[in-house]
Amino acid sequence: MFLRNCWYVAAWSHEVGQEPLGRTLLNEPVVLYRTEDGDPVALEDRCCHRGLPLSLGTVEGRRLRCAYHGLLFDRDGACAEVPGQSRMPPGSAVRSYPLVERAGWVWIWMGEEAPDESLLPDWWWMDHPDWKTVPGNNGKPLHSRCSHRLIVDNLLDLSHLTFVHTDTIGNDEITRFPCRTEREARLVRMERLMPAVEPPPFYKAAGGFAGKVDRWQIVEAILPCYVDVDVGCTEVGRGALDGDRVQGTAFHVPNCPTPETGRTTHHFYAHTRLFRTDSAEMDEVFRTDFLRVFHEDLEIMEAQQRVFDSRPDAPLVDINVDAPALTFKRMHEDALEAETGARTAA
Ligand SMILES: [Fe+2]
Repeated sequence: MFLRNCWYVAAWSHEVGQEPLGRTLLNEPVVLYRTEDGDPVALEDRCCHRGLPLSLGTVEGRRLRCAYHGLLFDRDGACAEVPGQSRMPPGSAVRSYPLVERAGWVWIWMGEEAPDESLLPDWWWMDHPDWKTVPGNNGKPLHSRCSHRLIVDNLLDLSHLTFVHTDTIGNDEITRFPCRTEREARLVRMERLMPAVEPPPFYKAAGGFAGKVDRWQIVEAILPCYVDVDVGCTEVGRGALDGDRVQGTAFHVPNCPTPETGRTTHHFYAHTRLFRTDSAEMDEVFRTDFLRVFHEDLEIMEAQQRVFDSRPDAPLVDINVDAPALTFKRMHEDALEAETGARTAA
């Protein structure tokens, strides 16, 4: 079961063009294409005539033609032409989905309520000229054979860096510091501030730090499953831990793990940094070293998914570092219950 009255990332903007792109989102087959005017369109990826995926068809101007019998669909999903007949049969339409393009991503609204742009995350720095964004996984969603909920859990608990990412961003210092959890209407914030600690290998190299650093990890998870990871290090005593986090090796990792199914995910993410923004070498570190970091997580989460699939009801215990993820889980369940309740009532 998924939250539906919210936006999900459907594709990177550059993935959507004149060639139709078929992608399953929230268990529904969707076809994405761009009209000749450059507007992205999302339709149900199933012709209403004989069910062929429309992603096998061809874009004609603003419309999409089915590859089987040539039915032509408008961007609103209405059938505009049935070759060989002038009458449109009743019900000859496919579902169309509202889209917005923001920060290099195409966002889709698959809910029944009217789309609400105020629900998009305000990640303004992603396309701000002072910041440098390097798309994750070379600008393709990282296909993950695990639930999107496991990805959110992973990102809300960065104590795992100590054990999973030892040659890049993890070291023993992290688990010495407890995390703080804050809850807002649609958001859970995890904050871990680490004064005067040893920097792990990535930060030592990227920031050129000779000695100890002040390090921060601030993760905001927003309904349905957006997660911004705000992390960095500075030299000790520069005020970073009092809130001045636009210095040192400051960067964000915005994540949108969009459910493909309940057990598979299109994980969209990027790295947006405020240091060495002109450095091609730094771009490459984010492109390659951090892809390795994401694959280290993927291996863990896919293994967890396999265990949950084989023993779904086996009990689990919770530890202190789970507080942010458990808070978000409750928030997500409450939202799901409210949405399902409203749908049933309607
Ligand atoms: Fe990780």
